[in-house]
Amino acid sequence: MATTTSSRPAAGRMAAVNEMTRLLRLLFEVEREFLRTVTTLVYRVGEPELKYLICQHAWESAGHARFLRERGRELSTFGTTDTVRDSIRRVFVEAVGTGTADPLKITAGFYHVLKPAMLAAYKHYLKVTDPLADWPSKKLVEEFIADEERHLREIAPYLKGVEAREWETHLTQALDDLGGWLGHETRLPLATNYVWQQTKTPYTHPETCNRGKYPVCSSIFGMDPTEDPIVRPWLTDPKTDARVIRLMVYVWLMMEMDAIDYLATAFIDTPDAPFDLHHDLTRHLWDESRHSQFGFRQLPKLGVDLMTVEQSLELYNILIQMPAHERYAMMTMEFEAGSFPTKAHVMDRVRELNDFEADTLLAFDRNDEQNHVRFGHRWLPEMMAQFGETRPVEEFVKATQEKFKEVAKIHGNKTPHSLPKEKRLTGDKILKLAGVN
Ligand SMILES: [Fe+2]
Ligand SMILES: [Fe+2]
Repeated sequence: MATTTSSRPAAGRMAAVNEMTRLLRLLFEVEREFLRTVTTLVYRVGEPELKYLICQHAWESAGHARFLRERGRELSTFGTTDTVRDSIRRVFVEAVGTGTADPLKITAGFYHVLKPAMLAAYKHYLKVTDPLADWPSKKLVEEFIADEERHLREIAPYLKGVEAREWETHLTQALDDLGGWLGHETRLPLATNYVWQQTKTPYTHPETCNRGKYPVCSSIFGMDPTEDPIVRPWLTDPKTDARVIRLMVYVWLMMEMDAIDYLATAFIDTPDAPFDLHHDLTRHLWDESRHSQFGFRQLPKLGVDLMTVEQSLELYNILIQMPAHERYAMMTMEFEAGSFPTKAHVMDRVRELNDFEADTLLAFDRNDEQNHVRFGHRWLPEMMAQFGETRPVEEFVKATQEKFKEVAKIHGNKTPHSLPKEKRLTGDKILKLAGVN
């Protein structure tokens, strides 16, 4: 019986490692599917601070997934693909809800059901693994537990008073059918009359993004100081006071909220993308959320009432009419690649003020943006492949720029000003706030 010495005895010999690898693999799939789906909340919730927080959690989740995969690959049975199994994917896609669902209810589903189950899964891992033999995994999991507990604390203020019991039960049932993310709890098979909402009403992106209580408009850039906050020629006019430029660039930075909202739509639309693409896209997303916070936090310090700053919806409204690889092409190859010369000039002017904080924020913004363009060069071809686009990149980008102009004619400039010009922040008001004249 010499032939029986093949794989079976080896599998038995390595059973302890293989069992822990199986759990690490599940945890990796859960984290990567979490960030692919939780990002649909970014443009659906209205509160900027909540958008920022979700971007941060998605980024931390990408970190968890990355280190789980790195550790997993040290163990032979982890597998070489990034694929998520259907049983896990189905629950996360269910949690996304429909395009018209109440976004806070959907947030509660993620944070009251799916996230606590992730925390429980990590705790289970720690309990069943050998602390000395599997120390490398243990170290990671301990850190992730602390992160997950913090995420739940950080989200709590936004979910106070949100009534989502029925929805949470619906998701709990889907999860109980698996016996938790690791299948380590008693399985409660789904009732025969359980209806997966995703089969009834598949998710579609909302036509516009949510900015909650804040006033909105089409665009914040313009030529008229009585109408628009960022007066384009002022940015490069050497006669413009540097304090005015500083205020205008903070408005510009805060409005990277646009980038957050439309970039976040790309994840759910690319279910088969390699994890590394989603990892870098999540980093991109989190960077933009910090850039937006630069403005959101600094403007009030300079006397600006944020309720007078209209938020622009233009880019989301236009880009959402185009598929994700075209949105990504416009973002990285047009908007970001094209912003460097003006921003460089702005940075030089702001430096006249000896405002170390402003200089720091702008320098990090620039550094991040350089990375985003690099991401674009690396990932645009992969994004195109995800959509079966076979034209050369350059030709595709050119055609997409033309298409954007056409789509803008139909879907652009559709958001009227929430505020009359007397009430909203404009170039003229910025002059006053800056103490010029
Ligand atoms: Fe940015
Ligand atoms: Fe960027």
